[in-house]
Amino acid sequence: MPTLGIIGSGHIGAAVARLAVAAGIPVVMANSRGPESLARLIAELGPLATAGTAEQAARAGGIVVTSVPLTAVPTLPTAALRGRTVLDTSNYYPRRDGRITPLDSEELTTSELVQQHLPGAHLVKAFNNIWAHHIPQLARPSGAPDRSALPIAGDDQGAKQSAAALIDRLGFDTFDAGPLAESWRFEPESTAYTRLYAADPDVPRDRLLDVPGLPVPVEGLRAALTQAQRVRVANRVY
Ligand SMILES: NC(=O)c1ccc[n+]([C@@H]2O[C@H](COP(=O)([O-])OP(=O)(O)OC[C@H]3O[C@@H](n4cnc5c(N)ncnc54)[C@H](OP(=O)(O)O)[C@@H]3O)[C@@H](O)[C@H]2O)c1
Repeated sequence: MPTLGIIGSGHIGAAVARLAVAAGIPVVMANSRGPESLARLIAELGPLATAGTAEQAARAGGIVVTSVPLTAVPTLPTAALRGRTVLDTSNYYPRRDGRITPLDSEELTTSELVQQHLPGAHLVKAFNNIWAHHIPQLARPSGAPDRSALPIAGDDQGAKQSAAALIDRLGFDTFDAGPLAESWRFEPESTAYTRLYAADPDVPRDRLLDVPGLPVPVEGLRAALTQAQRVRVANRVY
């Protein structure tokens, strides 16, 4: 499989990178502080991993994962991402990101806003609805009886197929939740968001790292997406 570019080497970016190298996929990692600051992570990931600038990570792969805070999206290398399949892990947390009017008004979903910042990129929302520590816990080989499914959404069918093939290699089934406009179904506080994959879905926020992951097969995910009611984003505190 071609090299995977990963812009953002924090909780989600690093978790995806670990699955990628385990599956034999080369990765180019980038962050905000520059390639030298990634030395420890690159050493941990092994010979399939290298560090680069965000531009280099974007150009390295046919598929690029962008996993940066929403406020950093406007700084992503737009030209280099044009024409590529981009897996966007973004979520909107007003307490962290500040209030963003087109999201509060529900005029746009978070990934539609990201798509506006990345014209020409084929955006697929993915890996946004699972806590980072559950990614390695729930990844399974294809066909495993307790394999979990992750939702994807996007406006380009070819990009969604590429994303699904990659995510399958990484250890998860996928379920197509529709276009980016429908991705509110697995955004924060929805029934298909992170607590779906928690063994104790009512765990308090300060203890969420203690809770093991719960496998969610495709049918369970489909039901959660179907039941989802649109969250009133302007009322969200976190
Ligand atoms: N954490 C979770 O469990 C989780 C789950 C689902 C979705 N998400 C969402 O995924 C996104 C990333 O979350 P995270 O928890 O992985 O964040 P994180 O741990 O804070 O990591 C963010 C990464 O983005 C990098 N970055 C920041 N600005 C950048 C820029 N301008 N150019 C290139 N890289 C930049 C940071 O670089 P430095 O290392 O140099 O600071 C860091 O490596 C967020 O939207 C979050 O809401 C998170």
